[in-house]
Amino acid sequence: MTTKATIATIGQYVDQEVLIEGWLWNKRFSGKIGFLNLRDGTGFIQGVIAKQDVSEELFATAKGLTQETSVRVTGTVRAEERAASGYELNVTGVEVVAVTQDYPITPKEHGVDFLMDNRHLWIRSPRQRAVLKIRAEIIRGMRDYLDNNGFTQVDPPILTPSSAEGTTNLFEIEYVNGEPAYLSQSGQLYMEAAALALGKVYSFGPTFRAEKSKTRKHMIEFWMIEPEMAYVEHAENLQIQEAFVKHMIKWVLEHCPQELKTLERDTDALWRVVNEKFPVITYKEAVQILQEKGHDFPYGEDFGAPHETELTNHFDLPVFVEKWPADIKAFYMQPDPEDPSVVLGADLLAPEGYGEIIGGSQRIHDYELMKSRYEEHQLGESYNWYLELRQYGTVPHSGFGIGLERTIAWICGLDHVRETIMMPRLLYRLYP
Ligand code: 4AD
Ligand code: MG
Repeated sequence: MTTKATIATIGQYVDQEVLIEGWLWNKRFSGKIGFLNLRDGTGFIQGVIAKQDVSEELFATAKGLTQETSVRVTGTVRAEERAASGYELNVTGVEVVAVTQDYPITPKEHGVDFLMDNRHLWIRSPRQRAVLKIRAEIIRGMRDYLDNNGFTQVDPPILTPSSAEGTTNLFEIEYVNGEPAYLSQSGQLYMEAAALALGKVYSFGPTFRAEKSKTRKHMIEFWMIEPEMAYVEHAENLQIQEAFVKHMIKWVLEHCPQELKTLERDTDALWRVVNEKFPVITYKEAVQILQEKGHDFPYGEDFGAPHETELTNHFDLPVFVEKWPADIKAFYMQPDPEDPSVVLGADLLAPEGYGEIIGGSQRIHDYELMKSRYEEHQLGESYNWYLELRQYGTVPHSGFGIGLERTIAWICGLDHVRETIMMPRLLYRLYP
């Protein structure tokens, strides 16, 4: 009996005959020899078939295979230094499972809209597969940090009666009883309740923002990990974020060398992030840097993409920008006791032009102060429970949210978030 193997673990079977169940993604025949590029989901390998070694029938079958035909291939595993995977398969048998004809995505160049319309097929290609693998490992690396540092996962609701991050991009739907409901923009407010119950918690799930902007960074549906911690204040919040990001990147470097290579990612830049301290600057210092670099940027405005790019190029490392003007940040952020016009919140900007990947802050825990924010922002009854958290056992607490897709774009070195998730939901894209 031939052993069933996967391409990822094929190194265990050198000189043995194995069965690979997969698909033909490319082939090349020249005279008496043929090369079958096979994939099985776990990886890619080249099968070699020589006319002189096999039956005429088998050689003809192999030669007639079309792209994306599903096949069960048997062969003997050979170590092959020149191969990307390190191995090759000397093909001894081919069983066609289903013939594919006219596969739309050919090895030639296709436009991005065409590829996006064929996203259900495009994800089979080596680069797209690598991104999805890295996405899975980024999630594992993040959770590994949190699970090993005393955090408990808690799942906040996705259907909510109120907004968490302002109303401009709120996604409204009709609830079963006819009331308006909103898809969650962030689980944070609920995670604050969870932190007062369990200490250190995190959520991981999809969030929704009806963003009208068509940029390389904005999605309508994106995933966030949101840790929230009781008795943690601003400075410690930043330390935890830094350790968390470093752990995740190290995890990916160690678990995805092949995929990073497929994407031709500069891993030295990522190792630098693991090994060096992240600079922390105030919003005010950031504005000064921008002005020195010739940007006509007034104090008190939010950064746009060119400003974030300028700042990250200046440091060439992830940089925390802290102490933002209270007016341009969320109602729940704790004012800085040294200057109440700014808040104890920080964004983490990723280097190489990627920009904001984390938004976080210390939260207001004082009842009276929160109550006055409610009046200023006219927060209605649907927020009563959140104010009550400041009434019953309130403590200083902090948290942050990391956007998964922007983080993946950075780690993978992609120029757009659309390739970071299987089926991106963008301003003009709901299909497939
Ligand atoms: O900065 P944001 O809006 O922060 C919050 O939602 C906080 N409640 C998080 C918290 O403290 N628990 O969003 C957090 C991150 C951003 O830094 C960004 O990475 C990502 O979520 N993000 C988006 N990613 C893709 N498309 C969008 N439209 C995004 N909006 C935010
Ligand atoms: Mg933000």
